[in-house]
Amino acid sequence: MSEIIVDGRPLAFIEGQTVAAALVAAGRVAWRTTRIGHRPRGVFCGIGVCFDCLVTIDGAGGQRACLVPARAGMTVTTGEGDDE
Ligand code: FES
Repeated sequence: MSEIIVDGRPLAFIEGQTVAAALVAAGRVAWRTTRIGHRPRGVFCGIGVCFDCLVTIDGAGGQRACLVPARAGMTVTTGEGDDE
């Protein structure tokens, strides 16, 4: 099993999983909050439409975790990429 680094900690994933799938498989249902109201967000649509699942990947912000395949050594930062 391979690992990505999420907020500085290793997280195992299965080849073929997206970043969002790896997070959900690890028990995380929310990984950022909205700017207004600080409401929790994670996967909603799962198909790249809603932008609820935004994370920073390898320094690139605003990435949709539900669309990006997990890759060994990838660095993921949560809690960024707010919208309303
Ligand atoms: S869950 Fe909707 S864009 Fe990722």
